Amino acid sequence: MLRMAAATRTKAKAKKKAASKKKTVRKSAAKKSPAKKKVSKKTAAKKTAKKKSAAKAKRKTPALYTPPRKYSIAFSVNGARVETETPAHTSLLYLLRDLGFTEVKNGCEAGDCGACTILLDGVAINACVALGVQVDGREITTVKGIGTVENLHPIQKKFIEHGGIQCGFCTPGMIVAAKALLDDNPSPSREEIKVGIAGNLCRCTGYVKIIDAIEAAASEMASM
Ligand code: FES
Ligand code: FES
Repeated sequence: MLRMAAATRTKAKAKKKAASKKKTVRKSAAKKSPAKKKVSKKTAAKKTAKKKSAAKAKRKTPALYTPPRKYSIAFSVNGARVETETPAHTSLLYLLRDLGFTEVKNGCEAGDCGACTILLDGVAINACVALGVQVDGREITTVKGIGTVENLHPIQKKFIEHGGIQCGFCTPGMIVAAKALLDDNPSPSREEIKVGIAGNLCRCTGYVKIIDAIEAAASEMASM
């Protein structure tokens, strides 16, 4: 019994000794830690500075240019099929002119002057206030699709005969608007003609001759 008690005491002493050793080791480690802390603070400061300068550089670097996405569209102009690609923001006026249909005139780009008038599926619209992507699968007629030099449409003939063409800038749009009017109303009164071309401005102020020409074209077409 006595021997056992002595053995237990020895074990307890050994445990105590081991525990105190551990404490000593921890203490010495704790003594060393301020230095360690100093190092980690420095590293953290360096990291923060690095991050800040990276963020600054990022702010200064201009964003890389991303070209606008283009959409594939197909439509017809004066009976000919056109296949092209266009960004969503390009106006129909720019699209047509870029494709070579320069008979569609650019006057105001705001839907005010009518110089860019075209027929879209037979309806007169201002190409400058429509988007190119909107004509996918549709039919466009410009002044060149109404008649040819060899075979003029009665409206074109009468514009020439009545002097309805002065500088000629408004003429493509005027003729397209007149075509839409006569398609819809083959025998318009002078007042109806004025309303029909109300969206088309002529800077040469030759409205009387233009109205005469449309009236004459209507009567010629009625007799055909
Ligand atoms: S250019 Fe289209 S209305 Fe003037
Ligand atoms: S003929 Fe010149 S703008 Fe009309």
